Amino acid sequence: MDIFIDTADIAEIREACSWGIVDGLTTNPSLIRKAVEARKQDRIDMADYIEEICRLVDGPVSLEVISLSVDAMVEEAIKLHRRFYPVRKNVVIKIPVNTNDEDGPSPGFEGLKAIRELSGQGIDVNATLVMTAEQALLCAKAGARYVSPFMGRVDDYQRTLADASSPADGSALQTGCVLVEGIAHIFRHYSFNCSIIAASIRNVAHVRCAEMAGAHIATIPFAVLKQMTAHPKTSEGIRRFADDVVPEYSRLFDSLTVS
Ligand code: E4P
Repeated sequence: MDIFIDTADIAEIREACSWGIVDGLTTNPSLIRKAVEARKQDRIDMADYIEEICRLVDGPVSLEVISLSVDAMVEEAIKLHRRFYPVRKNVVIKIPVNTNDEDGPSPGFEGLKAIRELSGQGIDVNATLVMTAEQALLCAKAGARYVSPFMGRVDDYQRTLADASSPADGSALQTGCVLVEGIAHIFRHYSFNCSIIAASIRNVAHVRCAEMAGAHIATIPFAVLKQMTAHPKTSEGIRRFADDVVPEYSRLFDSLTVS
């Protein structure tokens, strides 16, 4: 499974890339906002900032549109792609599967139309805000190169249901894990050329689930990546090894040379 980092924070990106484990990156407007707010005094030039992100990451970098109508999303996607794809040829455009706000004017099919239009133009699309296997299927059929099921947010949604064991729509209990498992099964069965990016990952258990369920990629926040390196027994082992170093072994390193 490939590992993407889910952040727009340059310091986090630099650090994780230095570990040699980053295969790509995802951003969204909220992550960009967090990065901008963390550097308020620096006054970010957004174009330079995104260019730096594209240069740092050796793999696909997802940048998201902000409009809700198909024409505006396609226009924004083309602008982002024209400006940043040439930097390192790694830009992917994130399009929400459905831009319909229950109270808003969008009819709800704009996302799919934008995916179809952009993939037809040869622009790789990451379909985002995917909460069901049916949405994932539609995105793949519309030509998305990636779909991003949101594990954490689906778990949040389950918790909001009064009786999670029998959801109002009659569907089976849908956790983030079950969602990724279902999409992986469907994509394998019908041989879709669409990769699953397990997203909205909140903890190490989500990462394990994504791996076991057959996600091609997990996009992981920096804090969770850090947790993935840790174990109490690893720390204890390090302390014990340090305590057990005898002077003879320590002096060996002084006597050896690098070249
Ligand atoms: C990834 O593409 C998404 O932007 C991200 O994983 C969303 O995570 P969240 O639900 O924790 O905001």
